[in-house]
Amino acid sequence: MEWDFNTFYEWAQKHLKLELHAYKEKQLQRRINTVMGQAGATSLADYSKLIQRDPIVREEFLDYITINVTDFFRNKELFDNFEELLVSRLAPQFGPLKIWSAACSTGAEPYSLAMIVHKHNLSLKENILGTDLDETVLSQARESVYTEFELKNLPLLEKKEYFRQSDKKYVLDRRIRQNVTFKKHDLLRDSFGKDYHAIICRNVTIYFKTEVKNDLYQRFSDALVPGGLLFTGATETIYRPEQFGLKKVASFIYEKM
Ligand SMILES: C[S@@+](CC[C@H](N)C(=O)[O-])C[C@H]1O[C@@H](n2cnc3c(N)ncnc32)[C@H](O)[C@@H]1O
Repeated sequence: MEWDFNTFYEWAQKHLKLELHAYKEKQLQRRINTVMGQAGATSLADYSKLIQRDPIVREEFLDYITINVTDFFRNKELFDNFEELLVSRLAPQFGPLKIWSAACSTGAEPYSLAMIVHKHNLSLKENILGTDLDETVLSQARESVYTEFELKNLPLLEKKEYFRQSDKKYVLDRRIRQNVTFKKHDLLRDSFGKDYHAIICRNVTIYFKTEVKNDLYQRFSDALVPGGLLFTGATETIYRPEQFGLKKVASFIYEKM
């Protein structure tokens, strides 16, 4: 039987626990076609069998669909604004902070936050939480070994202070690693925690349909304390943030009202 994309999404929901219905249609289908072709499958039905049979094909599929690109202090000038707000506004107001980096890929984002915490001697209520849907990136995050490219926004001094170089790789120092805990979490299926002072969720909502995005913004808002901050990606403007109980305080940074 020929499968259409909907049949494939239903199969993925049942067997991979993946909510593909929530992702933007055209973009997703283009990616599925590409990765399916790379695996040598000629139909969605065949591809689903291959994914089930071969763990490597399955990993390749998950990695490709979820797009894992990240780096330290991504969009440096925006991160600098966020750092300034963490230090001058959140820490004096709340004391020990509770911070969540959602959809954090291989960990550069929560570790950037941990560097800020270390640099300014901020205190944490609990470890910074780094979450992602994809187990492969989470195990890389726990290993915390990075390439030069991922460190491109770091000044030489900080590179030296926080990393040990081994061949062409950079291994993150334990002082930073010890303040971050990683956990598997699907933004579309799992519940959110509460009482966060800062939530950073960047470069993932771009892949979701508008209604899914809006639902997420509401849930992030609910998970923040009043005065807490939500930091989104450099293309992820929230339209009419008041509808979610949020107020824009800087580019791509919103405060819970
Ligand atoms: C482009 S990366 C963004 C990484 C980091 N936030 C940044 O901006 O550098 C997108 C991440 O979102 C994750 N992701 C995709 N769908 C997700 C979902 N439903 N729940 C949680 N994470 C998801 C992917 O696995 C991937 O690691």
